[in-house]
Amino acid sequence: MFRTAVVVGSIRANSLNRKIAEILIGMESEGLGLHLVEIGRLPLYNEDLEGDPPSEWQKFRASMTASNALLFVTPEHNRSVPAALKNAIDVGSRPFGASVWEGKPAGVITVSPGAIGGFGANHHLRQMFVFLNVLAMQQPEAYLGGASEFFDQNGALAAEETRKFLNHFMKAYAEWVNRSLAPPQQSIVTRPIRAGRHGTFDESQSAPRIEGMTPTLKP
Ligand code: FNR
Repeated sequence: MFRTAVVVGSIRANSLNRKIAEILIGMESEGLGLHLVEIGRLPLYNEDLEGDPPSEWQKFRASMTASNALLFVTPEHNRSVPAALKNAIDVGSRPFGASVWEGKPAGVITVSPGAIGGFGANHHLRQMFVFLNVLAMQQPEAYLGGASEFFDQNGALAAEETRKFLNHFMKAYAEWVNRSLAPPQQSIVTRPIRAGRHGTFDESQSAPRIEGMTPTLKP
């Protein structure tokens, strides 16, 4: 069983993103251990505080360190990520060398009442992930536009299509997390290989040893 931190980029009480995140948590079926991690009370990142870090930072960092995987569900603010989410990312990324994000698999879903589904926030987040070495799932992408129409009067998803898409996303995400966290496989090439005049040889000039295959050298 994994532990997957779900981070909602909106800190608003009636957040559409939080509703989607709660639905995703309710859908869980593949041992992801999804749980919400709150970001709304994190003091603004300031390196001067690292000598005696605020308790909220410490709790957040501990919770993230204990998580194997990440799922971000966020709105877009001015074509980027909301300040609260940027702050959480900054808090988690320091002190230098102790980032809580390092090497973790992640999924990104952006949700907006607008037509383009938070595309800008989605990709600004992915840009940060390059630097932070977060392993973002590439496909399927999830830009959920028109989100103020998603819910019925009881707060349930109004359209079956939305649920189907979220199911499809979560299935791919579970596969991505499982694949990313699987123990490394031993290389199938058992000896170093170098290019030779007549093809590809191993260091002892005999045929490359590749398990399960009879190598053929081109003349
Ligand atoms: C927004 N909103 C918005 N929407 C969008 O699609 N693109 C944008 O760039 C912005 N910019 C923006 C800036 C600020 C400061 C606010 C407060 C709002 C609208 C936003 O998508 C909408 O408020 C969502 O409902 C926010 O998500 P939650 O809080 O419902 O999860």
